[in-house]
Amino acid sequence: MHLGLIGYGNIARGLIPVLAQEGAAPARLTVLAQPGREAAAQAALPGAEVVTEVAALIAAAPDLVAECAGQGAVAAHLPAVLAAGIDTVVASIGALADAALHDAATEAARRGGARMILPAGAVGGIDILAALRPSGIASVTYTGRKPPRAWAGTPAEGLLDLAALTDEAVFFSGTAREAALQYPKNANVAATVALAGAGLEATRVRLIADPAISANVHEIAVQAGAAEFTIRITGHPSPDNPKTSLTTVYSVAREILNRSREVAI
Ligand SMILES: NC(=O)c1ccc[n+]([C@@H]2O[C@H](COP(=O)([O-])OP(=O)(O)OC[C@H]3O[C@@H](n4cnc5c(N)ncnc54)[C@H](O)[C@@H]3O)[C@@H](O)[C@H]2O)c1
Repeated sequence: MHLGLIGYGNIARGLIPVLAQEGAAPARLTVLAQPGREAAAQAALPGAEVVTEVAALIAAAPDLVAECAGQGAVAAHLPAVLAAGIDTVVASIGALADAALHDAATEAARRGGARMILPAGAVGGIDILAALRPSGIASVTYTGRKPPRAWAGTPAEGLLDLAALTDEAVFFSGTAREAALQYPKNANVAATVALAGAGLEATRVRLIADPAISANVHEIAVQAGAAEFTIRITGHPSPDNPKTSLTTVYSVAREILNRSREVAI
């Protein structure tokens, strides 16, 4: 496969060894980096062709593009790539909480005959949630639980004395749209759960600082016409970089593998 990547950070770099381990190393790799970052991109992904304009990425004609760059890159590049007919895996799904961008990307995909592929990312259970949508969804609640220090730099700091917490504290309860806007670091998960199921207004989000845990814990509870389920995921930090969401690396890799192999699962 000729794989195109937007971004060359933790997720993009983590992907390549996973694909190789699974016997699906890309035959050709083209990376879109920001202008001026060519050398850093080349050092991060040796062997890749580095381009700095989305037009050059499109001209290289990759079979599939994976965005691993951030919400700004989705807004800047996704519609053009889709309009050119190139299927794109979008890691920064939170960008699609912006209804105008969501609609523009969808329209570009329709025009180009391409698909926008939204991976489960840091969470899971997205398969059954999306499958059950036609059966009617009565409620979806996503609960994000992190150690207090992991909420530093978010509005939680103004609501709680994070360093002094002795018990868990629910500091946000609202819609997925509100969560995506107020807590951008959680926007990807909130938007993924919402877009798979009940939408950004009807999906409830609770955010918790919990001094009793040391990893990030995601819980999704769903009541639908055909089934009820609850899924709880405890993500393991990468041994090399604790900020890297390992589940997201594997989830994006799965979407690529499902498009490189005879069996997709
Ligand atoms: N879906 C999920 O659950 C989930 C989980 C974690 C991260 N993410 C998303 O994945 C993104 C990447 O994560 P990461 O850990 O690899 O981040 P990172 O900061 O390590 O890497 C981001 C890379 O993108 C590049 N970049 C930024 N803006 C760009 C642009 N406009 N054009 C081209 N390149 C650009 C940066 O130079 C860098 O190489 C995050 O920003 C986040 O939005 C999603």
